[in-house]
Amino acid sequence: MSFLLECIGLSKHFGDIPAVDDVTFKMQEKELKCVIGPNGAGKTTLLNLIAGLLKPEAGRIIFKGRDITGLSAYRRAQLGIARTFQLTTVFQKMNAYENLLIANSGGANILELAKTMGLDGKLDRKVSHLSYVDKKRLEIAMAVALNPTLLLLDEPFSGLSEDEIRELTVQIKDLAEKMTVLMIEHKISKVCDLAHRITVLNDGKIICDGKPDDVLNDPTVRKVYWKYE
Ligand SMILES: Nc1ncnc2c1ncn2[C@@H]1O[C@H](COP(=O)(O)OP(=O)(O)OP(=O)(O)O)[C@@H](O)[C@H]1O
Ligand SMILES: [Mg+2]
Repeated sequence: MSFLLECIGLSKHFGDIPAVDDVTFKMQEKELKCVIGPNGAGKTTLLNLIAGLLKPEAGRIIFKGRDITGLSAYRRAQLGIARTFQLTTVFQKMNAYENLLIANSGGANILELAKTMGLDGKLDRKVSHLSYVDKKRLEIAMAVALNPTLLLLDEPFSGLSEDEIRELTVQIKDLAEKMTVLMIEHKISKVCDLAHRITVLNDGKIICDGKPDDVLNDPTVRKVYWKYE
């Protein structure tokens, strides 16, 4: 079977800290994977390695059968990897539509995309006047406007209410019909209804990988998480 993404033995240290430590996993096309883990587990670092914002000290990243380990973030974006950030990075002084126009190098139908993300009717609003959840939606829409094969989302649920998370869960599920999604989240409970597979990181290492139910019932995961949830 061929995989869209293969991370093989990835490692990245910051000084003495092994932020990502010998991480290996594969993703199939149209898979929706959630990487979860407590603060400092290495989730964002892993995403940065895949997006090309950081270079690993060891390991390889294979995307669409090609070794992209040495490629820049820009080249990876050209090949179909798009990402969002933990803190939103939309342009505050422009309206939502202008933000989408800037991002739209992939020839996306902006109006349709806005509708999928629940932003239709808000496109003429200045970003600084959008609610926090709409800014998050806009940032995801901007990444999707690149028409990626692999969409990387860094904690899209952070700071959102339960209702907002439920709504965004539906929207991410919609996106995942069209592309492969690798999403980071802090809490396991928020991704059980969403993820096809969950990978649990702790101290830079994968401690569990599997279907949501299996991960939820894994004794090692429960041990790491009981103090957090
Ligand atoms: N640029 C950096 N310089 C030094 N240390 C860093 C840097 N980035 C991350 N780290 C360290 O690497 C480890 C992993 O950090 P990372 O941000 O990847 O974790 P995370 O799982 O995304 O955490 P959070 O849930 O808080 O977002 C942490 O110990 C962090 O302090
Ligand atoms: Mg992080």
